[in-house]
Amino acid sequence: MSGANSVNEQRLWQRHADMAKLGGTPKGGVNRQALSPEDAAARNQLAAWAKARGFEVFTDAIGNLFVRRAGTDPQAAPVMSGSHMDSQPTGGRFDGMYGVLAAFEALEALEDAGIRTRRPVLAVAWTNEEGSRFQPGAMGSAVFAHPERLATMLQQKDWEGVLLKDALAETLKAAPAPMRELGFPVASYVEAHIEQGPRLEAAATTIGVVTAIQGSRRYIVTVEGEEAHAGTTPRAARKDAYAAATRLAAALYDATADHDDTLRFTIGRVEVSPGSPNTVPGKAVFTIDMRHPDDTVLADREAAIERLLAEKTAPCTASLEKIGAMPPTDFDPKVIALVRDTAQALGLRHMEMPSGAGHDAMHIASRCPAGMIFVPCERGISHNEIENATPADLAAGTRVLVEVLEALANR
Ligand code: GLV
Ligand code: MN
Ligand code: MN
Repeated sequence: MSGANSVNEQRLWQRHADMAKLGGTPKGGVNRQALSPEDAAARNQLAAWAKARGFEVFTDAIGNLFVRRAGTDPQAAPVMSGSHMDSQPTGGRFDGMYGVLAAFEALEALEDAGIRTRRPVLAVAWTNEEGSRFQPGAMGSAVFAHPERLATMLQQKDWEGVLLKDALAETLKAAPAPMRELGFPVASYVEAHIEQGPRLEAAATTIGVVTAIQGSRRYIVTVEGEEAHAGTTPRAARKDAYAAATRLAAALYDATADHDDTLRFTIGRVEVSPGSPNTVPGKAVFTIDMRHPDDTVLADREAAIERLLAEKTAPCTASLEKIGAMPPTDFDPKVIALVRDTAQALGLRHMEMPSGAGHDAMHIASRCPAGMIFVPCERGISHNEIENATPADLAAGTRVLVEVLEALANR
């Protein structure tokens, strides 16, 4: 039996169904935000499955959860695969979870096939990839790659003011695991993920051989005005923070529209306070998520945002806080070639493609050779409760993954 032949499509599909119950929403998606009780439940589920197979389970100071299948060389650094189990507030069942369950299925397939590898093979669930509750996203992998960032991350607060440090302590209390050193050596890293875009499905292609991840930047814009009575205050006398924010937002959409629709610009969260129908808003806060394959374009548009902030918000004042910046990532040519050749050898239709979405692999790529495997998702829809993928495609991606991991674990 090969690793690929030992991938169990039904088992993998059932594990997705079991995980989807943890934070499951009425529309069939999940709300399993980072370091919530639902996140802890998913951690306990993964650990229980791992222990049932005799795999070792451990965590680190940012709460990344690791499952380890031993290799034959106790000195050798592991190869690693995984993704995240946290979700958007109205997330799907596959974003992130597929990468974790594919990695775990790869460990089980190696076990079922009786394959010994020189290096250990690790499955990992990174903490807070989504960055919807705590900023910035891809936090667990960032701290793993740059342990010096831990102290700053522990001080982050969610939108309700909960400290990450406290939410992490609660989570590790509810889902305890032995603690290991942060950022241990890794020989190579490969992450499986649904594509979250329409290209694979449109091309009737099963495997995306991921070559790169585009750059991204995130900001919080705060517009401050003055609260006033909605019935009595003339327009000329108002400092309406929401009115200023909408003028600014309209200008930002214009300033970030490009002729070939490459630049991605999103205002995804808006808060207006005090949030009373008959008080002129004194404060408006909104987020900006901006992405492009070329970092110089992002720098240029950042300068434009700063300019418009000053131009469009008078008589209010506005400030820009940069909460994340990630330059584009190029994956390792040898890992890209291995994914491509493996898909080819397994007779799977494949194509090379960059990733529009961010992934934990972008941080781990700074530590070791890294790459990614995409599989199609229905109509390319993601960050949506109706996100869907087929059992056959999920299994196909996992067959590529297990062969790739086996090859890397014997190098
Ligand atoms: C990950 O969810 C991203 O926002 O790219
Ligand atoms: Mn994801
Ligand atoms: Mn996501």
